[in-house]
Amino acid sequence: MLRFEAGAQELLTKAKENFKESADRAGEKLFSGTAAMTGFVTLPETMTDELICRIEAAADEIRAVCDTLVVVGIGGSYLGVSACDRMLKKDGQSLELLYAGYSLSASHHRRLIEKLDKCEPAICVISKSGSTMESSMAFSLLRDYVEKRFGKKSAERFIVIAGEQDNPLKTEAMERGYRLFSLPENVGGRYSILSAAGLVPLAMAGYDIRAMLKGARELKSRLEAVPFSETPCGEYAMIRNHLYNEGKRVEVFSLTEDEMHEMGQWLAQLFGESEGKCGHGFFPACVHYSTDLHAVGQFLEEGSRVFLETLLTVDERSEDISAPGFCYSYNDSIAAAAEAVWHVRKAKNTPIVRVTIGSLCEECIGELLYFFEMACAAGCYMMGVNPFDQPGVEAYKKEIRALLCK
Ligand code: PA5
Repeated sequence: MLRFEAGAQELLTKAKENFKESADRAGEKLFSGTAAMTGFVTLPETMTDELICRIEAAADEIRAVCDTLVVVGIGGSYLGVSACDRMLKKDGQSLELLYAGYSLSASHHRRLIEKLDKCEPAICVISKSGSTMESSMAFSLLRDYVEKRFGKKSAERFIVIAGEQDNPLKTEAMERGYRLFSLPENVGGRYSILSAAGLVPLAMAGYDIRAMLKGARELKSRLEAVPFSETPCGEYAMIRNHLYNEGKRVEVFSLTEDEMHEMGQWLAQLFGESEGKCGHGFFPACVHYSTDLHAVGQFLEEGSRVFLETLLTVDERSEDISAPGFCYSYNDSIAAAAEAVWHVRKAKNTPIVRVTIGSLCEECIGELLYFFEMACAAGCYMMGVNPFDQPGVEAYKKEIRALLCK
């Protein structure tokens, strides 16, 4: 079961004094079922068995023919998939996920196409608007490649996940007979990992999406059982808001597992895009331990006191090795590194909180993703910002289109 701890009891007590009521109101709003764009709250239950069976059947069909799935998307439409894929990946998987459309790198896309020559590829494009430039360009490139290589039989290699409302991608999928799944209108890109947008590619890679939903569902029950301010999400949101009012402006997500590298990117996007507006919000930064303990670790210990540190760690790791002559293993060492950070930050009164999950399994990851989504959305309500829009991103999308279409 996921655990949330504040480094100092006093920090939690003060945060509660100032933000208890606002946290309870935020929780009620999220669970009310009436607030705009809160469809993600109920996804762990509303992903019906029928839809899950349809996803699993499509996954079986793709895996029977393909060994590679290129996930095409950017921002909230791919980061959750890449985070889960990295945390869950095992040796010898029958289908590998590759990524396209998350950048405008010519060399990445050229190399990807070359690599596909040695694979049996399928393409899964994810875009709620169905018109984002990066995803559209990459999809066009890959569609051209697949159609030239597989001719009339190419349609079976495409999977489209698009918003429910009419959009160019959805229309194309229907006209060309691609497999089509919907991203619900009341679920935003960065809150979509437990919808078809995340679960379709993850099922195709062979991951247990039912276990992911179960993990999220169990946390949801915990959150609904008591006032929100007494839940792990509520405590985290209250501490963040309290520290923000005290002048902290950076949240450092410190990750103990190599496999959490992409999880850090998902967190930075979730919090940055949800909270960073109207002149508000923490700047989200990520560090990786123990690598960064020999780099920005110096700043965190003795540099300017502008940040809150959120330490993410796991109780159990799936494999371990020991170096000859050492009486402790790699896992003993990383656990000790995390514990050392926890102690030294507390000793210096540096604000720190810790989120611990059992292991990097589907169930624990479902719980972890849901924890951050709920805490982030609640914290935004408490800060007075809309967690679900992204006017700055939309401004960029409009501007780049205008420049390129001149
Ligand atoms: O979280 C978000 O809403 C954004 O990051 C979007 O996911 C991203 O801009 C891609 O948009 P779309 O899914 O419409 O292609």
